[in-house]
Amino acid sequence: MEEKTSTFLIIASTVAALGGLLFGFDTAVISGTTPFIQPFFHLSDVGLGWTVSSLLIGCIIGVTLSGRPGDLFGRRNTLRAAALVFFVSAVGSSLAARLWVFIVFRFFGGIAVGTASMLSPMYISEISPGARRGALVSLNQLAIVIGILIAFFSNYLLVGVGPDNWRWMLAVMGLPALFFFISLLFVPESPRWLVQKGKTEEAFGILSRINGSEKASTELRDIESSVHNEERGTYREVFSKELRPLLMIGVLLAIFQQMTGINSIMYYAPIIFQKIGNGTSSALMQTIAVGAVNLTFTIVSLKLIDRWGRKPLLIVGAIGMVVSLAVIAIAFFTHHFEGYLILVFILIFIASFAVSIGPVAWVVIAEIFPNKLRSKAMSVAIVTLWTFTFLVSLTFPVILDRLGGGAAFAIFGVMCLLLLFYVIFRLPETKGKSLEELERILVSKRG
Ligand code: BGC
Repeated sequence: MEEKTSTFLIIASTVAALGGLLFGFDTAVISGTTPFIQPFFHLSDVGLGWTVSSLLIGCIIGVTLSGRPGDLFGRRNTLRAAALVFFVSAVGSSLAARLWVFIVFRFFGGIAVGTASMLSPMYISEISPGARRGALVSLNQLAIVIGILIAFFSNYLLVGVGPDNWRWMLAVMGLPALFFFISLLFVPESPRWLVQKGKTEEAFGILSRINGSEKASTELRDIESSVHNEERGTYREVFSKELRPLLMIGVLLAIFQQMTGINSIMYYAPIIFQKIGNGTSSALMQTIAVGAVNLTFTIVSLKLIDRWGRKPLLIVGAIGMVVSLAVIAIAFFTHHFEGYLILVFILIFIASFAVSIGPVAWVVIAEIFPNKLRSKAMSVAIVTLWTFTFLVSLTFPVILDRLGGGAAFAIFGVMCLLLLFYVIFRLPETKGKSLEELERILVSKRG
C-alpha cells in the first residue's frame, strides 16, 4: 500500500514538474536560434534583445493571470491549457515568416511559461503531504534545469540541418508540450482546490490514494481549515507593514537571482562563445557543457540544502560567482581569451549559481510566507523574478555590444558581492523548521 501510494504521488508530481521542464526548454531554446534569427529577421542588437525578451513579457503576464483560472477551473485544467499554448507557440514561432508573428508566438509561449512557473509548484505542494513538500518543490527546479539541458542538446543536434535549423529547434518543443498535455489527462485534480470548490468527497478519494484513508481524514480536516484561513489573505495584507520584511526577502532573492547574470549566459551563451572566437557548432557544444554542469550542481544542491542549510550554500555560491565573474570580466577587458580560460570560469560560475541562489531562491520564496498569504506573496516575488529576467536579457546584448563583456560581467560580479553581504548580515536561516514554526519565528520577530 505504502509503495503504491508513493508511486501515485511521484507520478502526479513528476507530471506537474513537466511544466518546469517546458519552462526550462522554452526559455533556453532561444539561445541556439539567436545566431540565425538575427540575420534572418535583420535584427539590430536592440531588436535581438526585444525578440528574446518577448517571451519574458508573456511570463510576467502569465504569472499575474494564472491565479484566477487556476482558482476557477482548477490547477490541472489550467496546466492543460498551458500545455496547449506551449504547443501552439512552438509550432507558430517555428513557422513564422515575419518578425511580428515570431514575437507574438513567443509571447504566448511566455504566458504558458509564467503559468507553469506558478501552477506547477502550487499543484505539487497542494497534492503532497507536508513532510515531503520541500523536496518536491525542488523537483520542479530540477525539471527546469533538465529542460534547459535538453534544449541545448537538441539545438546542438539540429544546428546542421540547413537554413531552417532554427525553425526545427523551436518546433521540437511541440513534442514535450504534447506529452505534457496527454499525461495531464491521467493525474487527479489538486485535492486542495477540490475542497475549495466543495467537492470534499472527490478530494477525500484522492487523499486516500496518496496517504491511505486513515491519514486522509486528518489531512482533509487540515486542508479544510487552511482553505478557510487562506480566504482571509488579501493583497493588502501581503503589502502590510507586518509582512514587508518577509516580502523584502522574497523580492530581494528574486532580484539577486537574476542580477547574477545567469540568463545572459543561458540565453546568449553561443553568442558569447562566438565573440571569443569559436565557431557556431563548437559554441553550441560548449553550451551543452553549461547545461550539464548546471544539472550536476543542482543535484548537489538538492542533497545539501536540508543538511547545510540555505545560508552556507548561498555564501559558498556567491563567493564562487564573484571570483569567476571577476576573472571573466578581466579576460574581456584585456582580450585574453586563450584556450578554454573563459569556458572554465563560465562553468565555475554556473556551478556556483546552481548550487546556491538557483534553487535556494525558489525554495525560500516557497517557504518564508505564512500559509494564508503564501500564494499571493509568492506571485509578487515571482513576478519580480520574471521582470528582472526580462530586464537583464533585454539589456545584455546592448551592453555587450556598446560597453563590452568586461563591463557586463563586472556589473554582475558587483551584484554577487552585494548578495554575499546580504546573506551574511541580513538573511535568516530557514533550514529544518516546519512552515508553521517559520511563520511564528519570522512574523513575530520581524513584525
Ligand atoms: C532561474 C532561471 C534560470 C535557471 C537556470 C532558475 O532558477 O529562475 O531564470 O534560467 O534557474 O538554471
